[in-house]
Amino acid sequence: MAETTAELEAGFLHTVESDQRIEPRDWMPEGYRRSLIRQIAQHAHSEIIGMQPEGNWLTRAPSLRRKAILMAKVQDEAGHGLYLYSAAETLGADRADLTDALIAGQQKYSSIFNYPALTFADVGVIGWLVDGAAICNQVPLCRSSFGPYGRAMIRVCKEESFHQRQGYELLLTMMKGTEEQRAMVQESVNRWWWPALMMFGPPDDRSPNSAQSMKWKIKRHSNDELRQRFVDMSVPQAQVLGVTFPDPDLAWNAERGSYDFGEPDWQEFTEVVTGRGATSIERIANRRAAHENGGWVREAAIAFAARSDEGAHHE
Ligand SMILES: [Fe+2]
Ligand SMILES: [Fe+2]
Repeated sequence: MAETTAELEAGFLHTVESDQRIEPRDWMPEGYRRSLIRQIAQHAHSEIIGMQPEGNWLTRAPSLRRKAILMAKVQDEAGHGLYLYSAAETLGADRADLTDALIAGQQKYSSIFNYPALTFADVGVIGWLVDGAAICNQVPLCRSSFGPYGRAMIRVCKEESFHQRQGYELLLTMMKGTEEQRAMVQESVNRWWWPALMMFGPPDDRSPNSAQSMKWKIKRHSNDELRQRFVDMSVPQAQVLGVTFPDPDLAWNAERGSYDFGEPDWQEFTEVVTGRGATSIERIANRRAAHENGGWVREAAIAFAARSDEGAHHE
């Protein structure tokens, strides 16, 4: 006998609450499916758009070694986008539709990628702080209740950890260089610190989807919790590096066993995340151009697939 919706819902909640995975063919509430598609698409778009700020430095990397490292890193981000679009497709989304929504400006991506990479030190700081913040966000997602998302995250996190180290190593090298190089690193840290803190999203009391996502175990920790974890992790790394963060309120709080820190400019966050950041228009225009220029590849692939199908029929 067919199960009622209430029974299906109870079964779903039981699976989630006992820390089992929901798989694509399992019954799931429409809200869960929609939330996941939104979150995974936003994540996939961030990986793909995130190739641009650093991609900007590929032709100007200061040595062959740095160029090879940066190329590998930017290619990894393309791969992350592909795993994630595939995970979204297991929920019934169509990747072509998701790309269309991105280039039409209908779906968001991380606010961080609307800031420009102005110096080569930015390549290091993006690796250290931006990929570092991404790791804080993504390690708990490896245990996301939705199977394909969690499994994609395991691979992604391994690569992100390489990205973070390459960034930090680049900065260590620059800090051992000239006075000008050290100043370049500090200037870059000053520009990226606050946007990196904003990557965790708005404070918990202003984060509309958080509570439900945590109940469904799509998310495991709140935005503020992850932000705190990132600050606590980054301060000692900054000390080793010999740079400071541009926050006069940053101070060790012995009682809490954590660092206190100032409030990011949430007005700026809203501007940037809704497409009014310094490079928002350029990012989308580049993505649109890449999509349109790649049209012939998609057509050729479809034509080739149709021909091989025909071939199979004649055999
Ligand atoms: Fe990535
Ligand atoms: Fe990365």
